[in-house]
Amino acid sequence: MQTPDTARLAALAQHYGTPLWVYDADTIRQRIAALRQFDTIRFAQKACSNTHILRLMREQGVKVDAVSRGEILRALAAGYDAAGEPSGIVFTADLIDRDTLATVTEHRIPVNAGSIDMLHQLGEASPGHRVWLRINPGFGHGHSNKTNTGGEHSKHGIWHSDLPAALDVIRQHGLQLVGLHMHIGSGVDYSHLQQVCGTMVELVQQVKAHGHDLHAISAGGGLSIPYRDGDASIDTEHYFTLWDQARQDAAAVIGHPLALEIEPGRYLVAESGNLLAEVRAAKDAGSNHFVLVDAGFNELMRPSMYGSYHHITVVPQDGVQKPEKDTVVGGPLCESGDVFTQGDGGVVLPRRLPAASVGDLLVFHDTGAYGASMSSNYNTRPLIAEVLVDGESDRLIRRRQTVEELLALEQL
Ligand code: LLP
Repeated sequence: MQTPDTARLAALAQHYGTPLWVYDADTIRQRIAALRQFDTIRFAQKACSNTHILRLMREQGVKVDAVSRGEILRALAAGYDAAGEPSGIVFTADLIDRDTLATVTEHRIPVNAGSIDMLHQLGEASPGHRVWLRINPGFGHGHSNKTNTGGEHSKHGIWHSDLPAALDVIRQHGLQLVGLHMHIGSGVDYSHLQQVCGTMVELVQQVKAHGHDLHAISAGGGLSIPYRDGDASIDTEHYFTLWDQARQDAAAVIGHPLALEIEPGRYLVAESGNLLAEVRAAKDAGSNHFVLVDAGFNELMRPSMYGSYHHITVVPQDGVQKPEKDTVVGGPLCESGDVFTQGDGGVVLPRRLPAASVGDLLVFHDTGAYGASMSSNYNTRPLIAEVLVDGESDRLIRRRQTVEELLALEQL
């Protein structure tokens, strides 16, 4: 968990207005540095896809993953291309729509396929295209059932026993196999890791047995971050050691060195970001005390969607911290689930917070991942601004959307 400089955040809120996303460039650089042992760090941009963040990643030598045509165009706009190996951009999905197929074909962007149908469609449109196979190993783990991407309830990846069939389709269309990929979930429990690594080596054995070659394996993403005080930080050294062993075992099977990729989203950006919101009302409802801010779940979706915890700091307007009281923090949306302090299933969970009143600032910590990128226009609320802090400087990296821009889409 990051401890933000609240005086600075208050000044930024004053200058740019609220609600506001603020990211810290140095924190991102530090997280990248902690994963440098991997041959390729591939940023899962779904966590935070602002092109200025992508540019920062590119300047640090980080490659990028895209999961939609829009994310491919973002990566291209940030200066990435698909030349060379490893490719600057990889497209990962379980299906490919027609427009995206045309775009990956045009830019020769390698495709990490999660279904055999994708391989057929790609092979017909773009013979010789580079592909990865995303395998569902039959088990998975996530911080919530909604972020577990392995096992038979999950729509993700090619089921492990279908690997030989996928390899046949690759041969049939003359596709070029780059590597095998596994991502079993987001916010993983590391006790699974040994099993994941062992499964990867077994899958590589099958690739070899079918007479195919490959150049890389990908560990996927899923690395957790400490959202609560006292949560452990991931031991990236240990994480690398286990995957490096899998890479060496797989290389021994294949008969030549293999590159090792990692594909984190959350780990690289979550702790770099804060959401700033202003208290606009405070009221009681029976035994509950509500503090209502100008940001809602259309900005920060995670508490409503997964019951996720984000630490909240109250920055009092008058500089005087008040005694704590049990507080339910909510937003402006016309929906009861628009509450930031809730558990899984929508139960309101009051939190001990210093008493806050109108004009105070609330800082929602560790919101750099799956914050802005999961925002919506619900209740006709325009997307809010994003600011990047770099050392002493700060700059707007996305201006606020306007309601007029939303209405323009409907002026036909
Ligand atoms: N690679 C693939 C193929 C993925 O599907 C994902 C995340 C990642 C990498 C990056 O996972 P990360 O390192 O960020 O855990 N909205 C949820 C997380 C959903 C993740 C979906 N896939 C949340 O706010 O927790």
